[in-house]
Amino acid sequence: MKIAKRGGIDPFIAMEVMKAANERQAAGGDVIHMEVGQPSTGAPRTVREAAMRALGSDRLGYTEALGIPPLRAAIAKHYRDYYGLAVAPERIVVTTGSSGAFLLAFLAVFDHGDRIGVAEPGYPAYRNILTALGIEMIPLPSRAESGFRLDASQLRRAGAMDGILVATPANPTGTMLDLARLQGLVDVAEERNIALIVDEIYHGITYGGRAQSVLALTDKAIVINSFSKYFSMTGWRLGWMVLPEALIRPVECLAQNLFISPPSLSQWAAIAAFDAHDELEANVARYAANRALLLEELPGAGFDRLAPVDGAFYIYADVSRLTNDSVAFSRRMLKEIGVAATPGLDFDRAEGRHFMRFSFAGSTQEMREAARRLRDWRK
Ligand SMILES: Cc1ncc(COP(=O)(O)O)c(C=O)c1O
Repeated sequence: MKIAKRGGIDPFIAMEVMKAANERQAAGGDVIHMEVGQPSTGAPRTVREAAMRALGSDRLGYTEALGIPPLRAAIAKHYRDYYGLAVAPERIVVTTGSSGAFLLAFLAVFDHGDRIGVAEPGYPAYRNILTALGIEMIPLPSRAESGFRLDASQLRRAGAMDGILVATPANPTGTMLDLARLQGLVDVAEERNIALIVDEIYHGITYGGRAQSVLALTDKAIVINSFSKYFSMTGWRLGWMVLPEALIRPVECLAQNLFISPPSLSQWAAIAAFDAHDELEANVARYAANRALLLEELPGAGFDRLAPVDGAFYIYADVSRLTNDSVAFSRRMLKEIGVAATPGLDFDRAEGRHFMRFSFAGSTQEMREAARRLRDWRK
């Protein structure tokens, strides 16, 4: 049987590390999970209660492809309440995680052979989804010297492209783009009449002031977000997009055919996520404590060159003084001290051999123990 080249994309290394860590646990070994970007908390209480109510109802069939109107309205209200921005519910599309949103956005905006500038290091699935669709990713290197932040002048120097994709706060570096930098990207996209896609999935998880949405500057950008991170609902597979008017209908047709609808139980439950402020803020306070602990402890274990961590729950460490093979380093770390972390190669083909990403979304007690093991290991 012929197997399509499309499936020959790279694995998602973080998921492979998680598989190895789970195997170690199944064999009786202990593991501190710092490899996947997943809150260690479950969905908020309000969401679980709403899900129970929905289970007792008879309304869990297919929904409209763009999502149930009350959830689209609740997301629009979130933009009003949290950012002070008026976003029409019609521009909001509920998706199967932000992963589903990427697929829909890429299919709606780009053709086979198009070239998309993507900040590197960056979330690995961007490259892998684009490659599977026959769209070329142009890496836009963001390095420690620039605080891992992209700016407009760098984009202007880059060659021709059909779109730009950035995340703020970013994975794996946690760096955030302020409104001035976002404006620079908006300007380049407008000058060149190309798409600007901004992944705002880590909004809500920041450590010095709120993240700013590109929607404050333009209604032409495509904004991607999700219930996975701040709302602590990874397995519910629910995300959303805010689209420019012209894309609503093409995305609706794609969504009808690719997914029929996002999961309906998750949609009914997610409406209640916006009532879980206190519980969600307590999660963020825990991430802040974990971040402070690791920023204090990791340098003593030899991890002393760290990205800024303005937001998200990752520490991206330059380990070039410890190894030039982050994949082997990660394997050894898991085998010898039971700490699972992700090699930078997942996020950056060029420089990732010299970096490791530690997720601090777990409990503070686990972070303390991880720091102790790393310190003892590096002695
Ligand atoms: C930057 C970024 N975007 C998107 C995703 C995908 O999230 P989901 O499909 O669960 O919404 C992740 C997951 O780690 C991420 O880090």
